[in-house]
Amino acid sequence: METDQIKTPQSLSAKFEGSFAYLTVRDRLPTILTKVIDTIHRNKKNFFEEHGEEGVDAEKRTISFLSKLRNELQTDKPVLCLADEAEDTAAWNEYMKRQQELMEDGQPVSWFKSPWLYVECYMYRKIQEALWLNPPINDFDVFKEGKTQSFFESQQAIISLCTHLREFLTSVDNPDENQLYDQFLKYVQVSLWGNKCDLSISAGQDNSQKTSPIESLSTLQRFILVDDSDKVWSALTALWASGGTEKRGARVDIILDNAGFELVTDLVLADFMVSVGLAKEVRFHGKLFPWFVSDVTKKDFDWTLSQIVASNHRQMSACGVQWKRFMKEGMWSYHDHQFWTLPHEFCDMAADAADLYSTLQGSDLILFKGDLNYRKLTGDRDWEHTVPFARALRGFNPAPLCSIRTLKANVQVGLQPGQGERLTSQEPDWMTNGKYAVIQFFCPRREQ
Ligand code: F6P
Ligand code: MG
Repeated sequence: METDQIKTPQSLSAKFEGSFAYLTVRDRLPTILTKVIDTIHRNKKNFFEEHGEEGVDAEKRTISFLSKLRNELQTDKPVLCLADEAEDTAAWNEYMKRQQELMEDGQPVSWFKSPWLYVECYMYRKIQEALWLNPPINDFDVFKEGKTQSFFESQQAIISLCTHLREFLTSVDNPDENQLYDQFLKYVQVSLWGNKCDLSISAGQDNSQKTSPIESLSTLQRFILVDDSDKVWSALTALWASGGTEKRGARVDIILDNAGFELVTDLVLADFMVSVGLAKEVRFHGKLFPWFVSDVTKKDFDWTLSQIVASNHRQMSACGVQWKRFMKEGMWSYHDHQFWTLPHEFCDMAADAADLYSTLQGSDLILFKGDLNYRKLTGDRDWEHTVPFARALRGFNPAPLCSIRTLKANVQVGLQPGQGERLTSQEPDWMTNGKYAVIQFFCPRREQ
């Protein structure tokens, strides 16, 4: 069978436990670059209106830079050092050197012969380089249109979710622990399926008013391959028990993934946790610049809150008002760090971003949203499916953590013996079709 999968060079696999997952979808990156070029071109008029001829010149230079990049990518040319002078430039160039040291016979690090995780991250950083080197359009978010559209297309699902949350919080007086647990499971699962990226979690039905994300959950339950939500719940409620008469809420860190519907599902989960006292504080972590098409930046985060406050729908707007209050009063906060837009695996964090690692050590629970975070947690290796999640983390253990992820890339650990094989025989693309999901928990203190 013809395949575009590039094998792992022996020397590479010998240096690591597990072997790298290699580029199996190399057409994806040129397609994204083509869309980026098209978006910049379509905005030429706006650049002119905003910056005059300078804007148009910058548009031309940026397109030429990106067209060259696409050509280099398609012809497997060596990847080049970054030439801008951003705060993360040195870290990127140093990481390239590390990749170079892993290459056999001094071959250059090139687009098809390097780990998929690295080149994919590198492409998004190069898009940024193209813009940063070309003021005055350097602040342009090439993915903004798509993120905005995804938010507006899921209005009905957002309304029904916000309504569900507000009704629970206002109508149930003094909920007991079982009621809270049931709701918690629902909001965790909504946040999970929000990561499906099809912007509606209606399992293929139309995204109309009657389609409630909550109602789809029972149908989707069987697609959750590992469900550790009870452990996540225990980690949160253990703090209640330890707080004496006063219940102590947790500090929860959410490493965000996508803007649009997924972000709203994360905000709903965070609202629930704070409102019922499971969390005293939620810290959101986003990206410093546009990343992997739909990831949340500070601008996306602020824009989303403003849109929700401004909604004509009473319950949706009530959510927005509450969320802005959480931000103002410090129960919620937004953070970014360059590490989230570097190509490093998370087991490198303690050494390469010690400040971030030590901040995360102060957390009671870290929720990692999405597929890319899972790849970075597990190093994107070709692990056996039965390898324990703890082992795949390879020492990354700042605090109890949970990955909430739909499967879109060829890596999955922590399954039961035979589970992966069964899935492969029934559905060969089960790891990449976004249909399956995991809620996978790891607690360093308990497992040591
Ligand atoms: O599926 C393509 C891809 O770029 C993966 O490589 C990546 O892991 C994923 O998309 C991003 O998904 P998510 O937004 O869930 O991190
Ligand atoms: Mg993403």
